[in-house]
Amino acid sequence: MDSSVPRAPLADGHSIDMIGYGVYKVPAEDTEELCSTALEEGYRLLDTAALYGNEAGVGAAARTYLETGEREDLFITSKVWNDDHGYDATLRAFDASLRLLGLEYLDLYLIHWPCPSRDLYVESWRALERLRADGRVRSIGVSNFQQDHLERLLAEAGVVPVLNQIELHPYLQQRALRSFHEQHGIATQAWSPLGRGKVLADPVIARIAADLGRTPAQVILRWHLQHGILTIPKASSRERISSNLDIFGFRLDEDQIDALEALERDQRFGSHPDRVG
Ligand SMILES: NC(=O)c1ccc[n+]([C@@H]2O[C@H](COP(=O)([O-])OP(=O)(O)OC[C@H]3O[C@@H](n4cnc5c(N)ncnc54)[C@H](OP(=O)(O)O)[C@@H]3O)[C@@H](O)[C@H]2O)c1
Repeated sequence: MDSSVPRAPLADGHSIDMIGYGVYKVPAEDTEELCSTALEEGYRLLDTAALYGNEAGVGAAARTYLETGEREDLFITSKVWNDDHGYDATLRAFDASLRLLGLEYLDLYLIHWPCPSRDLYVESWRALERLRADGRVRSIGVSNFQQDHLERLLAEAGVVPVLNQIELHPYLQQRALRSFHEQHGIATQAWSPLGRGKVLADPVIARIAADLGRTPAQVILRWHLQHGILTIPKASSRERISSNLDIFGFRLDEDQIDALEALERDQRFGSHPDRVG
């Protein structure tokens, strides 16, 4: 069960897999088997959330892996849901997630959405700082934070988020936010890296894929990789799970990268962070 997924350094001294397996909308009853498949195929990062209702399946697959594998080699991410914003509620939500996962600690815990209308993300962040100090989570970060939400955390909190998980694919390239992340040592992790599958039919991507003898998904994930953007694609078959990981044996050239850059159209398939509360 070797894995060759390279890791990227995080600003807190830990490191994270460049690509992981995301389980949003993976039914609870299928999660253990699909996560075990992903682990067999070489993934080591599993991305779940309280919202997904499948943390127990993720944990079951992780614990099976640990019967022969090392905890250090796994990377488990979960997220606090919007209803649990606030210091005490976030601590309780973390306890519930960790219990469902059946693990001793998490590698990464994220605030799922900033929910500006609730105005409690700074309090939730303080809970994450506490969990990190207590050793219950290795690294802490955020998801769906816009620049203004990050600026507020940088101004008011003691610990800088190591990562922001945001919607990011060739139709929504997030250049301004990525540049802000770089200035502050925050890693960019792309959710819906394949645009929920809707970017895969793009003719420019299809042509590049045909030229390279690769799949459209591999081209898109390779584009992220060459930009240093972490990804967590979801797929529901062993074949897709496996082929999505097979992105380390080829390179997009400058013209191909340019053609992908030109696909930017500010198109979201998920919600706008300012409107989720
Ligand atoms: N933080 C957040 O707010 C947030 C929001 C959304 C998602 N996420 C995370 O990001 C992960 C990925 O995002 P996502 O699930 O929304 O979308 P995605 O990974 O961009 O796309 C998944 C879709 O693409 C299809 N697909 C995957 N590989 C394929 C391939 N090789 N060929 C053809 N189709 C393929 C899948 O189909 P099948 O499943 O049928 O194989 C599925 O319909 C989630 O699972 C979750 O962990 C986080």
